Amino acid sequence: MSQVTALVTKLSDLVENARLDPDQLTQVILNLTVNARDAMPEGGILHLETSTVDLDDAYIQEHPTVQPGRYVMLAVSDTRVGMDKSILPRIFDPFFTTKDVGKGTGLGLAIVYGIVKQSGGYVWVHSEPGHGTTFKIYFPVTTTAPEAPIPRNETASRPSGQTVLVVEDEAMIRGNVRLCLEQLGYHVMEAANGDAALRICQMNSHVDLVPTDLVMPGMGGHELAVEVGRLYPNVRMLFMPGYTEDSAARRDILMQGGPFLQKPFSVADLSNAVHQVLALPMRRP
Ligand SMILES: Nc1ncnc2c1ncn2[C@@H]1O[C@H](COP(=O)(O)OP(=O)(O)O)[C@@H](O)[C@H]1O
Ligand SMILES: [Mg+2]
Repeated sequence: MSQVTALVTKLSDLVENARLDPDQLTQVILNLTVNARDAMPEGGILHLETSTVDLDDAYIQEHPTVQPGRYVMLAVSDTRVGMDKSILPRIFDPFFTTKDVGKGTGLGLAIVYGIVKQSGGYVWVHSEPGHGTTFKIYFPVTTTAPEAPIPRNETASRPSGQTVLVVEDEAMIRGNVRLCLEQLGYHVMEAANGDAALRICQMNSHVDLVPTDLVMPGMGGHELAVEVGRLYPNVRMLFMPGYTEDSAARRDILMQGGPFLQKPFSVADLSNAVHQVLALPMRRP
């Protein structure tokens, strides 16, 4: 059984402000701490640390992709299994897992990566097999005053309460997209083609977004978009064309300025696209 024998925190009192969605930050901490727990089957120590740091010229020399500046640093460390160097390049890939079927989804770190990138931050990992792993995340410090917290309700721009209807005939892709979106906090429904999707819209007045494949047996994505636009003008569409699908279909979407996400995509791409489309103003007032 995995367990944390002790939790050691070193949290700075003077940590500065970073612009983050509190739910997304919770996701980050949860995914990292669950991994740390899984990495300590015989028990071990979980360390959480925060501080504000300057990533200066010397640091940039070693990490040329980093923007110099002040960052809020969050570190999550464990003291056990660690990772072999060979897997490090893949750990942030969606669906990469070394855990048994049913134990790991391989989505935790992909979601962490997506959220960190969305916030303009960086994530580094340091790991020693048998001695443990440290994940360090840097969020850019913001000097603008914190916004008043938005009252929590169905229409606030956070995932919870927003409903996404995933339309895709390939069950594997549909299931994966569903898992990702659920982990990101959306309420998710599924349909295997346009006809099924319309029936679901009819029964649920609360669909906010419909990411859809283009070519499906029965009603395809284009026809679905036309019908949804006609019947449910407040529902937003996101096309997910496959790379094998004909480029004329893709050109049509581009010409109409419709948002689309080319398959295959990463969890970060999906998270960004869904977030952005949901933030768009309604097509009709
Ligand atoms: N703290 C850790 N210690 C050792 N290995 C880790 C740690 N965190 C992540 N990993 C490795 O990275 C993989 C991917 O992690 P993640 O994306 O969270 O998916 P999952 O936890 O579902 O496997 C894990 O399967 C594991 O091999
Ligand atoms: Mg995990």
